[in-house]
Amino acid sequence: MSASTVGIGQAHPRLEGPAKVTGTARYAAEYPADGMVYGWAVQSSVARGRIVRIDPTATLAEPGVLDVLTYENAPRLQSTASSELFLLQHPQVHYRGEFLALVLAETLESAREGALLLRVDYDTEPHSSLLTEHHPGLYKPEKVNPSYPTDTGLGDFEAGYAASEVQLDQTYRTPAYHNNPMEPHSATAQWLDGRLLVHDSSQGGTLVRDTLGQLFNLPVDRIRVISAHVGGGFGGKGSPRCTPVLAAMAARHLGRPVRLALTRQQICGPLGYRTPTIQRVRLGSDADGRLAAICHDAISQTSTSIEFTEQTAVLTRSLYAAPNRRTTHRVTRLDVPTPSWMRAPGECPGSFALECAMDELAVACGTDPVELRIRNDTEVDPEEGLPFTSRNLVACLREGARRFGWADRDPAPGVRRQGRCLVGTGMASAIYPARAAGAHACARVNPDGTYEVGINATDIGTGARTALWLIAADALAVPGERVTVDIGDSDLPAAFVAGGSFGTAGWGWAVDKACRTLRRQLQEQHGGTVPADGLTVRVDTMTEAAEQPRYARYAFGAHFVEVRVDMDSGEVRVPRMLGVFATGRVVNPTTARSQLIGGMTMGLSMALHEEGALDQRFGDWVNRDLATYHIASCADVEQIDAGWVDDPDERVNPLGVKGLGEIGIVGSAAAVANAVYHATGIRVRELPIQSDKLV
Ligand code: MOS
Repeated sequence: MSASTVGIGQAHPRLEGPAKVTGTARYAAEYPADGMVYGWAVQSSVARGRIVRIDPTATLAEPGVLDVLTYENAPRLQSTASSELFLLQHPQVHYRGEFLALVLAETLESAREGALLLRVDYDTEPHSSLLTEHHPGLYKPEKVNPSYPTDTGLGDFEAGYAASEVQLDQTYRTPAYHNNPMEPHSATAQWLDGRLLVHDSSQGGTLVRDTLGQLFNLPVDRIRVISAHVGGGFGGKGSPRCTPVLAAMAARHLGRPVRLALTRQQICGPLGYRTPTIQRVRLGSDADGRLAAICHDAISQTSTSIEFTEQTAVLTRSLYAAPNRRTTHRVTRLDVPTPSWMRAPGECPGSFALECAMDELAVACGTDPVELRIRNDTEVDPEEGLPFTSRNLVACLREGARRFGWADRDPAPGVRRQGRCLVGTGMASAIYPARAAGAHACARVNPDGTYEVGINATDIGTGARTALWLIAADALAVPGERVTVDIGDSDLPAAFVAGGSFGTAGWGWAVDKACRTLRRQLQEQHGGTVPADGLTVRVDTMTEAAEQPRYARYAFGAHFVEVRVDMDSGEVRVPRMLGVFATGRVVNPTTARSQLIGGMTMGLSMALHEEGALDQRFGDWVNRDLATYHIASCADVEQIDAGWVDDPDERVNPLGVKGLGEIGIVGSAAAVANAVYHATGIRVRELPIQSDKLV
């Protein structure tokens, strides 16, 4: 880089790119240590019951095996809010695949072999693992994630619906999804001079540190969690996970460093998955598609350990105007792993149902689906009554339609042939909260004129490190090569996890404040001259982030998709996918585009392939690797692009930045399904759209 000023809005490749592609970027299971011990986790083979006996004789006889940790001999933990992290403390089995033991050995191979030889006997109980809308255990939870009201209502839905000229009442289903980051969960733990050092593949090391402190009854200043590079998470690494806990327990037990790297088969389920959903959507409108009544009833599952309720219907509270409205969530406890965060939890599956229903309404009214959405736009949040900080949904719809060439679309389904294929186009809207959490940050200027910024943010592959560097260089108004940004270390100032699309807005706010404060102090107190020992400032944004004025804070978007469906094989191919978004100020166009396209790709994948197929006889998924759990590949799509409209937002936060890690997945599966309907005339309401549903 030349000595030019970099700043917000300037496209820049990610700073750690060369380290990643040359293999010098270290991930959690790649840190060496003298005397390393390797762990292999043993999982339950039954879905519900109790361990009656663990016989480690054969395991301990395996050369290289050092010990086996089980509930009988593992270090005792203090219980925490998350009962799932209360590992190896009791003989109960809550689901198939639960971690029951950890084999420790001199080599990975010995640990793995030892795990195969471990004999576990169970008292097995009958289990229930299949979600249906008739499950007798369905109940109304107190709230849905992360803290939304379970049900909402406004006006009189029943009356508004009954009086509507056009009525739509359909049920949509999405299966379980597995997060599948490139890097499965892993951790390396060691106790050094009474301090616990953990390298963890996590979306937020501050939270991991605090949780380890509770479990091991240690003050947090005796724990350091490093997550310098993380190979994806998609939410599955958003909460503290079993890996650092098991590694730390084993390290304490043996007095040696321990590395635990899980396999992809092991993480599918026990380390997070998206719940299946069953969603009934009812829409009532006039003949022109103006909504009078809207209702979204969502059903999902949780585990017997923790109540985790996907906020499936919350987007329906804010997306479209309608005087009479209702949303509900019901959940049931099954003998399965606890579902977890997965990219755009709630909005992602919820938008499949709502945006397919809107397409069905457009067909029923004979209204263009873009026009239908414009007709139902709103200036205030329809349920909260609050103004939006900015709302440019209509701009996204218009700009997307223009770029895609939507204007001359013939609405008739199933009539455009290209050889063996039927061709069609579809679209959908997108909405995702634009939130920010308070954070701490520090900034330092050295006597040589270089600057160091520190915050315990995490870059899970998103480009967060680079975005914060652009924000810092912008605020400091110095050339980028004089600025370094340190992240991914719990010894740095504390910050919120990389999740909920909070990162760039929340961390960036604190980084911006630290840099501006440093600059001001340097001017006002030192006349612009750097003191001999440099100058450091520490700031936080906890108060201002907690006391933000009341507005409806959201990013918006619109998806446009063209599909080609081979009517002999039922194969769906996607010649074009376009997303246009309103995400406030874009910090780094390069990584922003990549995030948006990444989200859209996951929506494409969800539409066409992804499905956690559960065998209820075992209470477990049969497809738990990338050979059997299919995800989209380049062959599925020819052109995929994302852009944005101008979305100046003075109210959302001081930087005007809205997170964009999740909005790309919101609505993209619906846009594919709507295009498949337009191509074939077949409405698929249960994902994925596999060939047997089309031919
Ligand atoms: Mo994202 S699912 O909020 O980590």
